[in-house]
Amino acid sequence: LTTAATALALAVTANAASAACDDGEIVIKFAHVTNTDKHPKGIAASLLEKRVNEEMDGTACMEVYPNSTLYNDDQVLEAMLQGDVQLAAPSLSKFEKFTKQFRLFDLPFMFKNIEAVDAFQASDAGSAMKDSMQKRGLQGLAFWHNGMKQMSANKPLLSPSDANGLKFRVQSSDVLVAQMDAIGGSPQKMAFSEVYGALQQGVVDGQENTWSNIYGQKFFEVQDGITETNHGVLDYLVVASVDWLDSLDAEVRDQFMTIMDEVTATRNAESAKVNQEAKQAIIDAGGTVRTLDAAQRQEWVDTMLPVWDQFKEDVGQDNIDAAQSINA
Ligand code: LMR
Repeated sequence: LTTAATALALAVTANAASAACDDGEIVIKFAHVTNTDKHPKGIAASLLEKRVNEEMDGTACMEVYPNSTLYNDDQVLEAMLQGDVQLAAPSLSKFEKFTKQFRLFDLPFMFKNIEAVDAFQASDAGSAMKDSMQKRGLQGLAFWHNGMKQMSANKPLLSPSDANGLKFRVQSSDVLVAQMDAIGGSPQKMAFSEVYGALQQGVVDGQENTWSNIYGQKFFEVQDGITETNHGVLDYLVVASVDWLDSLDAEVRDQFMTIMDEVTATRNAESAKVNQEAKQAIIDAGGTVRTLDAAQRQEWVDTMLPVWDQFKEDVGQDNIDAAQSINA
């Protein structure tokens, strides 16, 4: 080895060791897909890592792998069932293969803001959803907020008809496919890590996401502008395998869950602020943000709302009613 290669090898080893895992500690690998900075999930994951590593030192240690460096969201749940990763927090749109209940969250204009989403998740109907995949081997631990989604494209979007014929990237959710069909777009499911390149190269024309994702992934740099539609929600479920949770001693699991609950409360309270800061950062960086007047917004509502009918049976009318009574 050359001196430079040796130095690099040593640096890599040191870096891996700095993840704070000692012999005998329970290793908790947490894989996610966003950046760590100025992002609701990234910040929450880092805080969780810090607290576990400080407060559970000697018992457990956490290593966070952000930015799809370990798995993307299409791979991570299978990897979890194999025991290759212990924690993940995919968006609720990514659980289609495991439960159809979360389709509720993808239905356009179901929730008016993140406070309504929070209240629904805290209700009996919402919190029962964390247990909806136990038979499939997965246990939801906490809902983590990102925020409301906005629409962007390579041309101005003011009326839904502006989306006619445009190709849109969507997360792997049939509800989101139906939503883009409803506005005359042509939806394409795609992993998060591929979206920037696909927008840049014109593989797709547009996308929907939160301010923090549009900022963090620099989508605004390769789009004409972003329209503030707040038409849907992007939220997360922190999830672990039933087998892994069962393998923990009760006290260890309790301590871990106490930290999880505290981090969830602390960071969920800040998610709207993080997104507002990302919106401002987009504007400061020269990105274009367009707002809708009441009549324009109503057009988006009228065009997208028929999507609910297609998924009523999957999500359950009782869940829709519960969400709508909170939203009122
Ligand atoms: C997406 O795929 O757009 C999001 O789910 C990414 C994320 O984790 O916020």
